[in-house]
Amino acid sequence: MDAWLTTSGLGLRESGKHIVEDVSLALAAQRIVLLGPNGAGKSTLLRLIHGLLHPSSGALRWPRNLTQAMVFQRPVMLRTTAIANVIYGLKLKGLPANECVQRAGAALEHVGLPHLAQRPARLLSGGEQQRVALARAWALEPELLILDEPTASLDPASTREVERIVGEIAAAGARVLMTTHNLGQARRMADEIVFIDRGRIVEHTPAEQFFSLPQTEAAQRFLKEETP
Ligand SMILES: Nc1ncnc2c1ncn2[C@@H]1O[C@H](COP(=O)(O)OP(=O)(O)O)[C@@H](O)[C@H]1O
Ligand SMILES: [Mg+2]
Repeated sequence: MDAWLTTSGLGLRESGKHIVEDVSLALAAQRIVLLGPNGAGKSTLLRLIHGLLHPSSGALRWPRNLTQAMVFQRPVMLRTTAIANVIYGLKLKGLPANECVQRAGAALEHVGLPHLAQRPARLLSGGEQQRVALARAWALEPELLILDEPTASLDPASTREVERIVGEIAAAGARVLMTTHNLGQARRMADEIVFIDRGRIVEHTPAEQFFSLPQTEAAQRFLKEETP
């Protein structure tokens, strides 16, 4: 399997502190879950990959440019309707107005919210807002979907719904790179696990192997502490 992203010696320093350090990864699997303790550098690494942060050292190499979309723990909704939130992202891409409306409507249907299209987005529940955020991402037809703890603020029903939607986006061919604190979710969603601790990658293995035979003490401790 060819890597869709290779990083070499990727690092980010802030005020003299290494937040992400010497990350050399070849990402080739379709669905990759990044796990690690609080403050390990997961969000920072995702932001570096999505281009929201500039590395202080090292490099990212994309063998082919991938269309990307990112979804955050707390959806950022504009003060307008749900559908206008989806349309906004498409307009930024320069698509013609009628295509924006058509794609946005289809995306809201995909996430099961066509009936809420005209509602003010900020008045929707947390779970509904996250689904609008997923519709906004989906409408961009991403080849890579990045999600940073997308269900951390959600109840179990909304969590399952988000997992279903992400699964469908993956089934449509997108690569998925995500973080989660929910180990059940990691088991359900991951082909591979990347485990990060204090800014450094300590394991990168097929998911079954990570959960059955974690190689490092850091990963063993993490699994023990995070298992309910
Ligand atoms: N802009 C920043 N300046 C200084 N420290 C930061 C900055 N962003 C993150 N950090 C610190 O870097 C570490 C990693 O943060 P983060 O990537 O958010 O971790 P995670 O997502 O794994 O919880 C934390 O200790 C955090 O406080
Ligand atoms: Mg984080």
